[in-house]
Amino acid sequence: MRAADIEGDITRVLFTEEEIRSKLDEIAARVAADYEGKDVVLVGVLKGAIMVMADFSRALPVSYPMDWMAVSSYGTGTRSSGVVQIRKDLDTDLHDKHVLIVEDIIDSGLTLRWLLDNFASRGVASVEVFALFRKPDAAKVHVDCKYVGFDIPNDFVIGYGLDYAEKYRNLRDVAVLAPHVYA
Ligand code: XMP
Ligand code: MG
Repeated sequence: MRAADIEGDITRVLFTEEEIRSKLDEIAARVAADYEGKDVVLVGVLKGAIMVMADFSRALPVSYPMDWMAVSSYGTGTRSSGVVQIRKDLDTDLHDKHVLIVEDIIDSGLTLRWLLDNFASRGVASVEVFALFRKPDAAKVHVDCKYVGFDIPNDFVIGYGLDYAEKYRNLRDVAVLAPHVYA
């Protein structure tokens, strides 16, 4: 875990940095093959997807443009409000582009459902989703996610870009947050 001061804040490590890296290699190879010859834009969802985007984009054998969007549906709690707000919009025009949304985690699915509807109205050639983590038991709406790293239990997780109240994003592994931290 490599940050001694937070060891008491987690109940267990779910995935190590190494396990995440090899999953990213696998998905990068699939994506490169699926999108061969296509005009792709990677869209990262801030801030949670920063680590995924950094490592996933470098695992790709091709160079795609990257853009970022910041939305919020959470505040500082651990439950989705369902109300999505754009905090930072894209800098590029997605018209006729093949968009691959890069997400840290799909929990209720509400954020992604909203993003997909939003992107559809921008005249994209196609839009697919890569989420490193997905919580099947937390789904409130169905979202088609073509590339999924790992399905995980319905626990609040931190690390590798994932935060609780803006902390823990810098942990190299992904771990379950101990309930006493947010209780
Ligand atoms: P929904 O519920 O809309 O969630 O699918 C979307 C966003 O909420 C954040 N999220 C989490 N962040 N640990 C986190 O650190 C979690 O367990 C967790 N679950 C959801 C995340 O930003 C996700 O994109
Ligand atoms: Mg996110």
